[in-house]
Amino acid sequence: MDYVWTVSFRPELVVPHSKMLPQNSLFDLLPRQTASDLEPAPNVPHEIVREQARFLTTINDFDDDLRSRFEKNLVLDRSLTRQLVSFQANKQRAAYRWFKYKEAFSAQLVDFLLSRYGIQKGTILDPFCGAGTALFVAADAGLNADGIELLPIGQEIVRARQRIRKLQPEHFARLKVWLNSQIWARQEKSVCLPELRITEGAYPAQTVDQIERYLSSASTESAELQEILRFSLLCVLENVSYTRKDGQYLRWDHRSGRKQGAKIFDKGEIIPFNAAIHSKIAEVLSDFSSGNVSADLFSKGADVGRVELLPGSCLDILPQLKSGSYSAIFTSPPYCNRYDYTRTYALELAVLGVNETELSRLRQEMLSCTVENRVKDLISLNPAWKDAIENAEQQPLLQALLRYLEWCRSASLLNNNGIARMVRGYFYEMACVIAECRRVLRPGGTLIMVNDNVRYAGASISVDLIFSSLAERLGFKVENILVLPNGKGNSSQQMGAHGRDALRKCVYIWKKAQRRTADT
Ligand SMILES: C[S@@+](CC[C@H](N)C(=O)[O-])C[C@H]1O[C@@H](n2cnc3c(N)ncnc32)[C@H](O)[C@@H]1O
Repeated sequence: MDYVWTVSFRPELVVPHSKMLPQNSLFDLLPRQTASDLEPAPNVPHEIVREQARFLTTINDFDDDLRSRFEKNLVLDRSLTRQLVSFQANKQRAAYRWFKYKEAFSAQLVDFLLSRYGIQKGTILDPFCGAGTALFVAADAGLNADGIELLPIGQEIVRARQRIRKLQPEHFARLKVWLNSQIWARQEKSVCLPELRITEGAYPAQTVDQIERYLSSASTESAELQEILRFSLLCVLENVSYTRKDGQYLRWDHRSGRKQGAKIFDKGEIIPFNAAIHSKIAEVLSDFSSGNVSADLFSKGADVGRVELLPGSCLDILPQLKSGSYSAIFTSPPYCNRYDYTRTYALELAVLGVNETELSRLRQEMLSCTVENRVKDLISLNPAWKDAIENAEQQPLLQALLRYLEWCRSASLLNNNGIARMVRGYFYEMACVIAECRRVLRPGGTLIMVNDNVRYAGASISVDLIFSSLAERLGFKVENILVLPNGKGNSSQQMGAHGRDALRKCVYIWKKAQRRTADT
């Protein structure tokens, strides 16, 4: 395959030297797994321990090869603080603070990187758009934006943001009435609060009563108002419940009556529903009326781009998108960390009418990132992914890791047997997503991806290096792998002491070649 690169030197794309660490120091900072990382259980036979050490040495060797391959691209970027990259920075930002989508990146990060990489016109795509952060920031900057999202909660947040743009003064006047007179409090109940098996008993009885009155009252309002009232309700469900989102599942407060583990969980104050919904509606109104809200939500000016939601799995939708149609892709897929969005967002999914069957379907359609994901037949989904799959089959570090995890499974060293299948599914599915991203990008287009490395069975998995290697073979040029400071000072000594915790969190910057001899 021939690629012709005509990427011109752009000073604004270069991370300032003051923000970078010299390459050698960066390499000192990168975590490595060694056999001594592992503390073998006392009753594991020596032969198993030796075999494990052999596997890890092989993994290290392939990891070293890839690090050398990308040595020039790996850059420690001190401007990318964890606060900036995660949802945290949204907490102060009007409109973005309404729904706490913990897995979101911040609006500021999108602003910052769109501007640093000169992405100013055309249409951007986020194939895992979540709450739509990249979409709305891009639209605010005058770009058009398409977002694919599988889960109804992400879809609902994006739709609510779109609808709020279209609300009229009379809708806001009516919201003020809701706020000031709490009209639901006197409403007869006609609607039941929907539940799923995993959400049964999630709220105090008084809260269920108030939510049902609220839903009943909302059902008598105009369609536009109903949508905003439902969105406001979704924004407070976690706070008024006995649960807390905790990555892999919902944690249950001891007051729920659910059986507790060895450590009793107390989530602190459980906010009464009337107070929680009052302050949420007040927040929405205040963001709107303060003029503090970014243009993407409320301006109807000509310089605001359009936002389009494509609901469903990106594995189904990406192949339907036209080649070469996007100027940039800005995304963050689920990490390979076992986080189960269908469990952590179960309260919200129940209110949105998702039933048990639908919940299982969504769990299986998610990018493989939980131990429950079954193998997806990618070739049946799209025969054109043969190259992408072969590319994954030939990636030496990935294959060494998969062999190791399979061996760990057969030697009963994994705390869950689904881990090996999940990791395989994650990389193979993402190989197909990366191939599609390259296809739908226009020549010269930029892909920006936020992702974390992970560790299983003592092997630290360099997701950043493996994805970049797959991307390169699929026709991307890897410009940079921007490494976030780890928040522990990043000194070599500290890395020594905390080596097992310090998995890289990165932002990948890849470019599609300007021109390619074969198809685009
Ligand atoms: C890390 S979150 C993205 C958050 C987003 N950047 C934001 O700021 O809100 C990953 C998202 O991918 C979605 N997702 C998982 N599997 C998917 C699939 N197969 N197709 C589309 N979206 C998927 C999840 O529901 C989740 O919202």
